[in-house]
Amino acid sequence: MTAKIIDGKAFAATVREKVAVHVARLKDENGITPGLAVVLVGEDPASQVYVRNKGKQTAEAGMASFEHKLDADTDQATLLKLIDDLNNDPAVHGILVQLPLPGHMDEDLVINAIDPAKDVDGFHISNVGLLGTGQKSMVPCTPLGCLMMLRDHYGSLSGLNAVVVGRSNIVGKPMANLLLRDSCTVTVAHSRTRDIEEVCRRADILVAAVGRPGMVTGDWVKPGATVIDVGINRVEKPEGGTRLVGDVEFASAVEVAGAITPVPGGVGPMTIACLLANTLTACCRANGLTEPEGLTA
Ligand code: GUN
Repeated sequence: MTAKIIDGKAFAATVREKVAVHVARLKDENGITPGLAVVLVGEDPASQVYVRNKGKQTAEAGMASFEHKLDADTDQATLLKLIDDLNNDPAVHGILVQLPLPGHMDEDLVINAIDPAKDVDGFHISNVGLLGTGQKSMVPCTPLGCLMMLRDHYGSLSGLNAVVVGRSNIVGKPMANLLLRDSCTVTVAHSRTRDIEEVCRRADILVAAVGRPGMVTGDWVKPGATVIDVGINRVEKPEGGTRLVGDVEFASAVEVAGAITPVPGGVGPMTIACLLANTLTACCRANGLTEPEGLTA
């Protein structure tokens, strides 16, 4: 039996549509336009593509998009001053500083300079702590997108065995916290985990977020499990050129899993959709308005 393919592209389109409907209502009824500021330091080509897509989709959802591009050799004090200005700008409800930052900057210090209420990435230490203690917070976009797809697939996640492969601050750790909050039994596996294949084979939900192309093969997957592939790896094709692959070897996993996200077209599109959702949520909270349903954790 082959797995059901979870269509992240279509799911993301429905999330963006829900956001756009809510944004239109906010404008009509409250005269408020949610605003997202994206800060890019330097000319990293992949980051430039992300930032362009973010700006385009923000505008398509009816939100205000503010882009700030700084030279790679900008000093940290200048960036901190910009963040301070954005923190104090009432038209800006969400702030995203594109990572990675140039080597001369202290990423933790910069992220923690963002007003936690405007931290739509959910990377500020206050939001990390709030999520870890099960309190209302801003939630990192990629794990939020994974959670939305899992809730849509299962309804309730209560009691399911979840294994998250990868322990990054951006995906692995917040994903584990979100699954725990939805009453899964959660294991975080990583490069030092013993018998990792065996650990993964116990998972009803297997989330791969390690950045290693095709690491999780079909024999790591329990028959009928749901596989969420967070990896986006660019690899050389034998015939020349490149293609995107996930952390899961799709061809073998699709034969064993019950449901699986493809790469591309799975988790990837959900990340920006959730960024828009987080910006809307931040705007509603800032104005004491009801938060959108189904768009938050
Ligand atoms: N660089 C790659 N992914 C992300 C993300 O989700 N947020 C930020 N701020 N930078 C990134």
